[in-house]
Amino acid sequence: MSIAPLFTPLTLDPVTLPNRIAVAPMCQYMANDGCASPWHLQHLMSLAMSGAGLVMIEATAVSRRGRITHGCLGLYSDACEDALGAVLDQARRVALPGTEFGIQLSHAGRKGSAHRPWETPGGSLSGSDAWQTLAPSTIAHRAGWALPQAATEEDLDGIADDFRNASIRAARLGLKVIEIHIAHGYLLHQFHSPLSNTRQDAWGGDDERRMAFPLRIAETVRNAASGIAVGARITGSDWAEDGLTVTHATTLATRLKAIGVDYACVTSSGIPVSNPTVANAEDEHPSLAEAVRRESGIITRAVGMITGSQQANDLIESGKADQVAIGRGFLDDPRWGWHAAFDLGVTLAYPAPYAWAAPAEWSGLQNRST
Ligand SMILES: Cc1cc2nc3c(=O)[nH]c(=O)nc-3n(C[C@H](O)[C@H](O)[C@H](O)COP(=O)(O)O)c2cc1C
Repeated sequence: MSIAPLFTPLTLDPVTLPNRIAVAPMCQYMANDGCASPWHLQHLMSLAMSGAGLVMIEATAVSRRGRITHGCLGLYSDACEDALGAVLDQARRVALPGTEFGIQLSHAGRKGSAHRPWETPGGSLSGSDAWQTLAPSTIAHRAGWALPQAATEEDLDGIADDFRNASIRAARLGLKVIEIHIAHGYLLHQFHSPLSNTRQDAWGGDDERRMAFPLRIAETVRNAASGIAVGARITGSDWAEDGLTVTHATTLATRLKAIGVDYACVTSSGIPVSNPTVANAEDEHPSLAEAVRRESGIITRAVGMITGSQQANDLIESGKADQVAIGRGFLDDPRWGWHAAFDLGVTLAYPAPYAWAAPAEWSGLQNRST
């Protein structure tokens, strides 16, 4: 009997993952000056044995200024590196066989200096808590948000250095995948989108120049992270008449692939638009991923309201995507991968303290004996 496609291995050169399930990167806003906290320990230890082949660590700021909030995880100091290293040491001890960890590197740009999402009134910080944000152009994220400064050449050189240094730290931590965040309205998406980039220099003015800074960062990370798979989260659409479309996404993916980026995760939205051209963006994600995969040939991950095991398996089997990322599904059920394996008739290795106690009718359990 052939194995369900969702549970076949996936190679993101040079790493081979045991299955096609990834935990989506999800900000926890629980760090202290970028340093992982006990919250991260429980969060990543739990996801390490979720059954996902790849656990993506949340958007991690490459500089203090690149954080969204004061609670964002960072990888910009020795203290950040040590704290994350200590969490990973523990999480690896309980990880299911083959499970790998990756990290998403990000700079928030004009979405930085903000309140945590559950805080009210939300939006930009004020007073001594706030910091000056940077962006391609002096356009606020939303009405009422602080105005960013347009990044100078010196700022851009500094940001490239920050991505390089964070990639070197990620390599030292033994992370197997680095994902560059070019989506959800953060700095690199701000450069890519005509809605947020009105520059008329080497970094804006036409499609090619709006891609130039994200591509420079991708090249920087690729060169700094030899022996690690590098991917990117990209925008399949801004859902606005004059915003990014799937054609822009395909072009970006093609260019990323040409410089050695191993995969693209196709998402959408993040730059506020007044009249979005779709009612529910996440419903469109699989077809955006399929188009990017078909047109660019890059290994492609789909994401967005993938909740069922059959739904996830169908996306792989139908060739719409090579990998699926699941976010809220794993927050709700940190054993999502176990349940998917059970549904699809696949045997998984389970931690011994749980496996020996499982009822006989839970077929598919294999004692991992550690
Ligand atoms: C709590 C939370 C935090 C998130 N943080 C990030 C992040 O750090 N980086 C990112 O690219 N997307 C982030 N996202 C988006 C998810 O990665 C994912 O794309 C989105 O939740 C849709 O997938 P889902 O329907 O499976 O949750 C976050 C989503 C949630 C719910």
